[in-house]
Amino acid sequence: MSAKTLFITGASTGIGAETARAAVRDGWRVALFARSQDKLDALVDELGHEAAIAVPGDVTQKSDLDAAIARTEEHFGSVEAVFANAGRGLDTAGVSEGDPDEWRDMMEINVMGMLWTLKASYDALKATQGHLVLTGSAAGRKHIKGSIYSASKWFVHGLAGNMADDMRDWGGRCTVIAPGMVDTPFFDSPKPEKLKPEDVAGAVMHALNAPKRAAVEEIFLMPTN
Ligand SMILES: NC(=O)c1ccc[n+]([C@@H]2O[C@H](COP(=O)([O-])OP(=O)(O)OC[C@H]3O[C@@H](n4cnc5c(N)ncnc54)[C@H](OP(=O)(O)O)[C@@H]3O)[C@@H](O)[C@H]2O)c1
Repeated sequence: MSAKTLFITGASTGIGAETARAAVRDGWRVALFARSQDKLDALVDELGHEAAIAVPGDVTQKSDLDAAIARTEEHFGSVEAVFANAGRGLDTAGVSEGDPDEWRDMMEINVMGMLWTLKASYDALKATQGHLVLTGSAAGRKHIKGSIYSASKWFVHGLAGNMADDMRDWGGRCTVIAPGMVDTPFFDSPKPEKLKPEDVAGAVMHALNAPKRAAVEEIFLMPTN
């Protein structure tokens, strides 16, 4: 069987980069999307040029995603899975203190970026009866007092359920991954007692490698402490 291709947004650091490493170990080819071309190039060097390509871009720009998916199909021949993972938090939480300009910037990534990734890759996934994985959050499953970030992740969970229903019609699958706190550059300070990005990457690969009869629609993982 020829190798399958996974397109990853937010692939330059944290959960996305670690998922690229896990996927290549499992025999997948990966296309890496994020803004930091230097980090993507370094990851391609690490993973090997047979297995990985860098397709840099900004998830807030639909044209960047259209071009990156086209380049991935051209290079590897097909796209069997997409991991829509790029996202960010807010420096200032809450409504009174919160900065509406920062909310807009976050929504452009966490909400519109998900939609542009979906729109750019839907036909490619339909052609392979493929698999869409979205990074939600523990914060997208429960209410958190005044949190605008949490509300953006509720959107992701809603979209994932709707896409699971849609994609089932043509043999596709959709999974939302909902981690609690993960030790990544998402935070300004290390979180050594929390989940590692490897833990989340393992969850993504569990969903992607599941037999075709098994649609893993949600994985919720929390640090033990
Ligand atoms: N860490 C946690 O505790 C936690 C928990 C639950 C869910 N999550 C979610 O997990 C996902 C990944 O976060 P992480 O923890 O791995 O943090 P991270 O290391 O900061 O990764 C964020 C990734 O998103 C990319 N990105 C940000 N803005 C982008 C844009 N406009 N266009 C393209 N790529 C963009 C970043 O790359 P560039 O800067 O190079 O563009 C980076 O690769 C996010 O959706 C986050 O909300 C994180």
